[in-house]
Amino acid sequence: MIDLHCHLLPGVDDGSKSMDISLKLANDAVRDGIDYALLTPHHMNGVYLNHKKAVIQQTQEFQVELDRHKISLKVFPGQEVRINGDLLTALDQDDILFADESGRYLMLEFPDDDVPSYTSNMVYELMQRGIIPIIVHPERNTRIMKRPDILYELLSRGCLSQITAGSYVGAFGHKVQKFSKQLIQAGQAYIFASDAHNLPNRRYEMTNAFSKLDREFGYDYVSRFSENAKRIINGDSLKLNDVKKVKNRLFRELY
Ligand SMILES: [Fe+2]
Repeated sequence: MIDLHCHLLPGVDDGSKSMDISLKLANDAVRDGIDYALLTPHHMNGVYLNHKKAVIQQTQEFQVELDRHKISLKVFPGQEVRINGDLLTALDQDDILFADESGRYLMLEFPDDDVPSYTSNMVYELMQRGIIPIIVHPERNTRIMKRPDILYELLSRGCLSQITAGSYVGAFGHKVQKFSKQLIQAGQAYIFASDAHNLPNRRYEMTNAFSKLDREFGYDYVSRFSENAKRIINGDSLKLNDVKKVKNRLFRELY
């Protein structure tokens, strides 16, 4: 199993505070069935800057520790990039890491409660450069929950999306869980990832999420999500979903 979003690097963001904690999280990942993990520290989110060169170096050092402790996890350098006005400059300066080595898939984060007004233009600029944004955890973005059409538009233009495994199994509450299911139903989900942090009540839920996906949507979805993750990390093309709109009456009432 491949995990394309986690905060396992020690001492770089709000993920793991120390190497001991990182090794514990890595053990948890392996126990949950994960073989490959893209390490995605926050970048340019207003608090954390994790530059490309540093992340590559830290990922190599972490791999050495994993090997030394006989933890069978292969890690790759990545970033969870917050959408921001300096993103194109950062790309020009070669300071952005992608999910794949060829620079095709970008793990793109929005603020928790907003989708900035320049998002549409930024996505256009990225796609002009041959970059495909993967919108991370849209199911937890309160603006998208109120106005799911925002995500629908982005996916219709060829963006992808990553649902956090914990969201789908209920770790972030009923509303997020229900919205996750609606997104999957509407073809608005491409992959699961852990978004693992070292936080109380936050556990690896990838196996649980895939089991639930199998129960609720069938094995075709399980194999498509798995295949998508593999294609993304390899920089290969994947088949776009037939994206439908989410009916959001429930969310209008709730918010
Ligand atoms: Fe994250």
